[in-house]
Amino acid sequence: MFLERLSLRHFRNYGVQEVAFTAPKAILVGDNAQGKSNLLESIQVLAALRSFRAGRDRDLVQEGAADGRN
Ligand SMILES: Nc1ncnc2c1ncn2[C@@H]1O[C@H](COP(=O)(O)OP(=O)(O)OP(=O)(O)O)[C@@H](O)[C@H]1O
Ligand SMILES: [Mg+2]
Repeated sequence: MFLERLSLRHFRNYGVQEVAFTAPKAILVGDNAQGKSNLLESIQVLAALRSFRAGRDRDLVQEGAADGRN
């Protein structure tokens, strides 16, 4: 399976975010708490419909948002 595009809406600390994976490999680089693990988590939720670290699905939704999409 190849992931070409990721579209996030109110997922964790992401409001509206589009990510295009245009190369065979991707490296996430960023400061602490910038959202690297959250982005990986969103991919895992896509693949497995569950998170490796969220106890409740509600935790995946951006704080203050009514719902989120992935
Ligand atoms: N439901 C949520 N709504 C809003 N922000 C959230 C939510 N869940 C987590 N966050 C925020 O996401 C940020 C952490 O993101 P993440 O763990 O992906 O960072 P990281 O880039 O992996 O950092 P590190 O380099 O320390 O591992 C924190 O600022 C945290 O408050
Ligand atoms: Mg991390």
